[in-house]
Amino acid sequence: MTFVRRMVQQALRVSVRNAFPLVKWMERWAESAAAPPLGSARQAVRTLDDMPGPTAASFAWDLFARGGLSRLHELQLEGVQRYGPVWKASFGPILTVHVADPALIEQVLRQEGQHPMRSNLSSWKDYRKLRGHNFGLLTAEGEEWQEVRSLLGKHMLRPKAVEVYDDTLNSVVSDLISKLRFRRSSQGLVTDITSEFYRFGLEGISSVLFESRIGCLDPVIPEETERFIESINTMFVMTLLTMAMPRWLHQLYPKPWKTFCDCWDYMFEFAKGHIDQRLTAEANKIAKGEKIEGRHLTYFLSQTGLPMKTIYSNVTELLLAGVDTISSTMSWTLYELSRHPEIQDALREEVLTVLEGRRIPDNTDVARMPLMKATVKEALRLYPVIPANARVISEKDIEVGGYLIPKNTLITLCQFATSRDPAVFQNPDDFHPYRWFNKDEAHHPYASVPFGVGKRSCIGRRIAELELYLALSRILMEFEVKPDPEGNSVKPMTRTLLVPENAINLQFVER
Ligand code: HEM
Repeated sequence: MTFVRRMVQQALRVSVRNAFPLVKWMERWAESAAAPPLGSARQAVRTLDDMPGPTAASFAWDLFARGGLSRLHELQLEGVQRYGPVWKASFGPILTVHVADPALIEQVLRQEGQHPMRSNLSSWKDYRKLRGHNFGLLTAEGEEWQEVRSLLGKHMLRPKAVEVYDDTLNSVVSDLISKLRFRRSSQGLVTDITSEFYRFGLEGISSVLFESRIGCLDPVIPEETERFIESINTMFVMTLLTMAMPRWLHQLYPKPWKTFCDCWDYMFEFAKGHIDQRLTAEANKIAKGEKIEGRHLTYFLSQTGLPMKTIYSNVTELLLAGVDTISSTMSWTLYELSRHPEIQDALREEVLTVLEGRRIPDNTDVARMPLMKATVKEALRLYPVIPANARVISEKDIEVGGYLIPKNTLITLCQFATSRDPAVFQNPDDFHPYRWFNKDEAHHPYASVPFGVGKRSCIGRRIAELELYLALSRILMEFEVKPDPEGNSVKPMTRTLLVPENAINLQFVER
């Protein structure tokens, strides 16, 4: 019966495009038919030994010989097809259990405990230990994480606290618009928009962290800014490589680990330089009896009594977290809107209606733009910036999908696979923001969770959404965004995060 159920579920997964409601009903039937009848003995819980998955050798072959490191998101889809919703694989020296079903992801996250841990094997942590840095919010665990999370949460998660950033962010958006105009060719083409949005992301998060501008969107970009962005990019590539390599290989082939450390060194140095400069300027003002505004996050952090080393690592990690995330989401959203002019027109109409003749939206305006929210949500469903999240449950063994997973096992949450699962989303590869309004198309709440859920979810979510909505509204008011007439479709690739594989070029036609 289990075999039949697997076959039916598997067949349904791949053939649901049409007849969607019928298929959903059949799938539920297949699931319930497989459940043990009430009152019967509970099915024996299986162990990791019973779990399907590729051999270590074949997974290593996929990763290294078949370019799998940049195709990790596709390997999720292949994994579901081959093994079903739960499988194990060895990522270099690390055994990880993949979970690729929304209900099972929910099972994991509901058991994540008081201080959830993303991964205890991260090379990011190794680097900090090596250099004697403290951990920031991305890498800290336990009580140490909880303390900073509560402090930062007050300034980053409360709607009222985030509202104050709209003026600051709007001034960065104004510079972005000027920069797009500056970069346009005579046909209005801006090549490689992602790189422009990296700079926008860095300028945006810097303005929130330091309440001062660092010139990323100036016609001539400061060299240190370019180097910081390059360091982030290279560090992400090296993250996967260093994690997939067993430690002894680091001795034999030291280059990836060295490059990885060099990148982090520069990122820490960059952040420290800006923090010291900002805090010194404020100390000087206070010494002169001047009042300081102090609305920026670094100021709030510096008032908490946390050690300076903790402030340095947190600001470094926040700077890092605000760059690729914003850049990828902006790039994919505009890429899809350029290919769906009818949706772009409707969205522009929504923006114009809400603004009633004004040119610059604020936080209350964007809160009244449902299609804007659905559009970004849909872009993040198709291209989740973090295609695979992770959890390590250290307190106890847990049961997931009928398997007993020993404590301290790395569990990979296959968010790319669930957000493109045809059993959850009709025509999952289509860009269709209106699906989020369709009450008949009920989605499992854990199928597309681009910001994560629960205590350890993205702390920058509100700032990110505000920044994205403000920027997209203004771009759509100023320009008609069209595809590159000579461009091809662009696919995503994994570089720890999900980013465009090739340059996205778009036409920005003056309205
Ligand atoms: C579209 C934009 C963004 C997306 C999709 C995104 C997504 C995520 C995801 C999936 C996580 C992991 C959540 C989990 O483990 O459950 C995360 C964590 C985090 N994000 Fe974001 N993020 C975005 C923007 C930002 C920005 C702009 C910042 C900084 C202001 C930021 C700061 C962080 C931090 C510090 C964490 C770690 C939180 C913790 O461990 O407590 N993110 N983000």
